Amino acid sequence: MLKDNHGRNINYLRLAVTDRCNLRCFYCMPEEGLNWLSREALLTYEEMLRLCWVLIGMGIEKIRITGGEPFVRKDIMPFLTELSQIKGLKELTITTNGVLTAPLVPELKKLGIRSVNLSLDTLDRNRFFAITHRDELDKVMDTMHTLLAHDIQVKINAVVMEGKNIQDILPLVALTKELPVSVRFIEEMPFNGGDSHYPVLHWDHIKILDEIKSQYTDIHKIADPAYSTSYNYKIPGHKGDVGIIAAYTRSFCGSCNRIRITPQGALKTCLYDGGVANIRDIMRSGATDAELQTALLYAISNRAKDGHEAEQQRIAGGIHESMATIGG
Ligand code: GTP
Ligand code: 5AD
Ligand code: SF4
Repeated sequence: MLKDNHGRNINYLRLAVTDRCNLRCFYCMPEEGLNWLSREALLTYEEMLRLCWVLIGMGIEKIRITGGEPFVRKDIMPFLTELSQIKGLKELTITTNGVLTAPLVPELKKLGIRSVNLSLDTLDRNRFFAITHRDELDKVMDTMHTLLAHDIQVKINAVVMEGKNIQDILPLVALTKELPVSVRFIEEMPFNGGDSHYPVLHWDHIKILDEIKSQYTDIHKIADPAYSTSYNYKIPGHKGDVGIIAAYTRSFCGSCNRIRITPQGALKTCLYDGGVANIRDIMRSGATDAELQTALLYAISNRAKDGHEAEQQRIAGGIHESMATIGG
């Protein structure tokens, strides 16, 4: 088992395959988009496959494909097919906004994908437009139903934002009554590609739970799976369940099992660090697999103890990244 310098198991890679996206969620990027990375700046599929192969050899068992929006990158399906065939990979999964996903679901099922996380912050068309700047709610809902029809587990990610979707918390919880989905409410983080929106976090995990309890008084805590980012709850009689992710409070760092690779090949050993190694340049300089492994091991053996320490260790200037260049 691969372990970091704090004794935490590392078995989960989040691989962001593109910074581009077909939505413009205001909590993630500016409305006009970002200065997109050039093709040369991005890791190629060959580079990603090599890196995944090396990391699986070191102990990575689960890979989550993120972006930007993974399905806007050309030729993603052949890449996923090759990735799914690497021996030793136990779980391949995806976080998507669901706009282009529905027609691909049968193919994803064939690749052995058992679970997909879907970003969906509201069930109201107007608020969906206000948050994402695109009128695509119907396609996202179609993706959700298509995934369920193919017996693929669905987790819905809803970022909780003061003044934007507070009135959606209870309707999103209500979705779990008839549908076997996990609805997970996420504390908003300051990764919007500009300056953070708030001096203080309005909606932390405690306040989110209080809001849910105001209507669902019989909601109760259930056991959290190993390495879970969410605190999980059940409402009696509901087919699905509810989770709350304290992403800003960062109370789950003690069991953090994940590393990240950004679209341009930076290694992040914490969501909040500024990138601790440039894996793309190491690979392009002709490093052997053994040298690549040494660089990865060095970074994993020097991890910050939690997201607060990682944030402090960033080079001065605070967080100005977009979540689309990290992958969440
Ligand atoms: P599972 O693999 O299903 O447990 O999902 P996940 O929570 O790892 O992934 P997902 O992509 O659905 O992320 C959900 C939310 O959790 C996003 O807002 C992520 O940014 C946030 N998140 C995921 N990993 C971390 C982490 O290590 N630290 C923090 N602070 N937030 C995280
Ligand atoms: N704060 C919290 N979560 C965010 N995500 C994107 N930007 C933010 C943010 N600023 C979430 C999306 C997506 C996941 C990978 O990250 O909801 O589902
Ligand atoms: Fe796109 Fe996801 Fe960012 Fe929204 S949160 S703009 S869907 S990458």
